[in-house]
Amino acid sequence: MDGAPALARWLGTGSAARAAPTFDDLERLPYARMVAEESMRLYPPAYVFSRRADYWTEPDTFTPERFAPGASGKDAADRPKHAYLPFGGGPRICIGNSFAMMEHAIVLAAATRHWRLESIPGHIVRTEPRITLRPRGGLPMRVMRR
Ligand code: HEM
Repeated sequence: MDGAPALARWLGTGSAARAAPTFDDLERLPYARMVAEESMRLYPPAYVFSRRADYWTEPDTFTPERFAPGASGKDAADRPKHAYLPFGGGPRICIGNSFAMMEHAIVLAAATRHWRLESIPGHIVRTEPRITLRPRGGLPMRVMRR
């Protein structure tokens, strides 16, 4: 993902000068919602399989655009329900689902408003499935003020 244009799309010009985003800003932050959804597809904390090539275009790539309204082909919103289950399903589906996704998008927009985060060149992120999925040895990042 090319972060800069993507961020410009989320936040618009001058966003750093505005107050921190809140629930009321969510509808103006569609890209933050798409990033949250794509993160939950590739790295669902409760590890479920959501990388099937028969359900997703290039399933191993991080492509928030697949969650854009009107995405077509395999990534269309009418994909089978069981293709995307970060919050489980059926009668025991996570009750924090909507709250968690709102929080994810707001925190992402709030953090990236002032800071630019980059992975450390050469650091390979490896997953560690414990009770929840986590990055093995943490996730070192370089943090720069925008
Ligand atoms: C990214 C964040 C979260 C993820 C990925 C997640 C994922 C899940 C999953 C996979 C289940 C099991 C569903 C099943 O058995 O089919 C679950 C259950 C549950 N989650 Fe979450 N969850 C998240 C955040 C939250 C939050 C913020 C809350 C509360 C505010 C919450 C409360 C619950 C509860 C109470 C259950 C048990 C539901 C039941 O057994 O009836 N979760 N969650």
